[in-house]
Amino acid sequence: MEVHSVDLTISAVDEKQYPAGDQPEIAFVGRSNVGKSSLTNVLINRRNFAHTSSQPGKTQTLNFYHIEDQLYFVDVPGYGYAKVSKKQRADFGRMIENYLTKRPQLRGVIMLVDGRHTPTDDDIQMYQWLSYYQLPVLVVATKMDKVKGSCFTQTTKQVQTTLDLSSQTPLVLFSAKTKRGKDQVWQWIEQQTGV
Ligand code: GTP
Ligand code: MG
Repeated sequence: MEVHSVDLTISAVDEKQYPAGDQPEIAFVGRSNVGKSSLTNVLINRRNFAHTSSQPGKTQTLNFYHIEDQLYFVDVPGYGYAKVSKKQRADFGRMIENYLTKRPQLRGVIMLVDGRHTPTDDDIQMYQWLSYYQLPVLVVATKMDKVKGSCFTQTTKQVQTTLDLSSQTPLVLFSAKTKRGKDQVWQWIEQQTGV
């Protein structure tokens, strides 16, 4: 999809604030600083519409972006950020869990991992959790501009093995810098949402 119009509909902390209507939604999850907001920006052809930061923990609410008046992207706060308080972590956890398990409009989850490193224990837990709830998942290994082309096969194997990806879960190698993988990610979104 070529995106021309996008609005930040709401930065929600509570389900009462989620947008009304029944348009499909795609959520973006992953560790803090992995590049969720950057991927969102590439998909919508904007430089910094979803605010990015080199400091982890930038996104702290469920941000609903309305795309072409047809679907929503939901930028979810990152996990694994050591500097948030215990209380805040529990609040985030509850908010994210509520959204991911109780939202009929949710058609799929894009889970990002850092393509430069082996997926972490947090990543493994997240993938198991998403699988348990039978949510359709696309795994995106990002920051691939930092990985040598000759290592791409190794990255693919490492992510597949460490997360123990099911045969139903596709994996895309992506870079927000070169936009590599953008079309594949859009294809999956279109498949899941029917837009
Ligand atoms: P939180 O909102 O804190 O959870 O982070 P996030 O997952 O939204 O990450 P964000 O998109 O803000 O990116 C974090 C940092 O990684 C920024 O400095 C980005 O410029 C950088 N980054 C993101 N994607 C890429 C990429 O594909 N390649 C490179 N080289 N850097 C990237
Ligand atoms: Mg972010």
